[in-house]
Amino acid sequence: MTGFTVALVLVVAAAGLLRWRRPAWYWLAFGIILATLRVLVRYASVMDACGLTVPPARWRLALARATNRPMPESRPPRILRLRPTRTGLVLRLKLRPGQDAFDVAAASDRLRHSFSMYGVTSRELRSGVVEVRMTGYDVLKRVQMPATTETRPMRVPVALRQDGSVHYRDYRAVPHALTLGATESGKSVYQRNLVVGLAPMDVALVGIDCKQGVELFPLARRFSALADNPDTAADLLDALVTRMADVYQLIRAQQRITVDVPDAEIAADIWDLPEHLRPVPVVVLVDEVAELALFASKEEEKRRDRIITALVRLAQLGRAAGIYLEICGQRFGSELGKGITMLRAQLTGRTAHRVNDETSANMAFGDISPDAVLAAIQIPAEMRGIAIAGDSSGGWHRIRAPHTSLRQAVNTCNRHADRTPALPELAPFRPALAGPTAAPVPSAKPSPATA
Ligand SMILES: Nc1ncnc2c1ncn2[C@@H]1O[C@H](COP(=O)(O)OP(=O)(O)O)[C@@H](O)[C@H]1O
Ligand SMILES: [Mg+2]
Repeated sequence: MTGFTVALVLVVAAAGLLRWRRPAWYWLAFGIILATLRVLVRYASVMDACGLTVPPARWRLALARATNRPMPESRPPRILRLRPTRTGLVLRLKLRPGQDAFDVAAASDRLRHSFSMYGVTSRELRSGVVEVRMTGYDVLKRVQMPATTETRPMRVPVALRQDGSVHYRDYRAVPHALTLGATESGKSVYQRNLVVGLAPMDVALVGIDCKQGVELFPLARRFSALADNPDTAADLLDALVTRMADVYQLIRAQQRITVDVPDAEIAADIWDLPEHLRPVPVVVLVDEVAELALFASKEEEKRRDRIITALVRLAQLGRAAGIYLEICGQRFGSELGKGITMLRAQLTGRTAHRVNDETSANMAFGDISPDAVLAAIQIPAEMRGIAIAGDSSGGWHRIRAPHTSLRQAVNTCNRHADRTPALPELAPFRPALAGPTAAPVPSAKPSPATA
């Protein structure tokens, strides 16, 4: 008996320790079973208490009256499926007549407390069926991406969502994106995760990093072109516009529409071209975009107009030519001059890290979703890397990218350096590499020889 008691105490202590230090392991070892039991046992009473039940149907009442049985009780939504996951539980519910998905969404905070879960979100799957996703612990506190994610061309698993699912950056669905955030809010780490995700794919990476190249130049071996100042950036963007025109010429040459060509084979963008002819897609990463739009003299103003015009053209026409923009900055509004709001309107994907004021959040979500603006302002300063990711359909999620260090990113880029395509148009901007050990992480102190 004492042996049993000691074992029990040990297990409870281990569970408590795990829950405190390693919530993800606790969830896998104990949480899943406890939470599943809790949900199944308390389901009917919790749903009743949360106002998610409907009175019994009239024919049941009539039947009970006729046969002199006890009156039937109110019924909660039927559980179609209960699926435990790595981070929580997923419930699929069939709504009763008269209920709607909004009822469940409105009760999600009550459900969270009643089932003692960390977070509860719900969404409609189809008419009458709602999926309720519950998380057992704060998945964004220590982001761990699942080992296997769905792989598709040009789709990068970049962050984890609050409900435990993976957030993808899908370039074919959302060609261009804007990432905003105050300084030190995690924009560059997010962009670094994108580079790490794109590195093993068949894609050319182009970087414009006007912070003297500190973020992107260490990753140079995987980049086909890099610019670290506005002058080079202007030439680089012009070269990209030229490339875009060439790709459109290629697509036109391939179209040859005659009556016997099936509709599906008429090429209108690079993905319709046969594989041996398809130009490699290009992702253009711009960090600290405001540097490109500021000017102090007449000369610089001309350069600025050239840059913004090229960016607007790439944003308007680049998608079908396989040129995708990924723009990061602290603010991106009309105070940066003409053309900026036009460019912003083309950037469909929106992500906002912590921002200091409502106007900055409005630059990301003002034209999409007022709730997302509020959520972006409420991100706490100490939770760096947390962001609100929205799309033009008005939906948004809290996400956080894993904390990939510059060293890890450099290693990944070097491992896939042989995948770097040499694009002839961009050859002048190819970063110079000094041997296989190139792209060192800059050292903190200049060496005596260079000082
Ligand atoms: N996803 C994240 N998880 C944990 N820490 C992060 C994350 N993103 C950023 N950080 C922390 O915040 C710091 C600043 O991030 P950074 O991306 O350089 O900010 P920004 O480019 O917005 O100025 C990083 O050095 C890192 O320590
Ligand atoms: Mg940065």
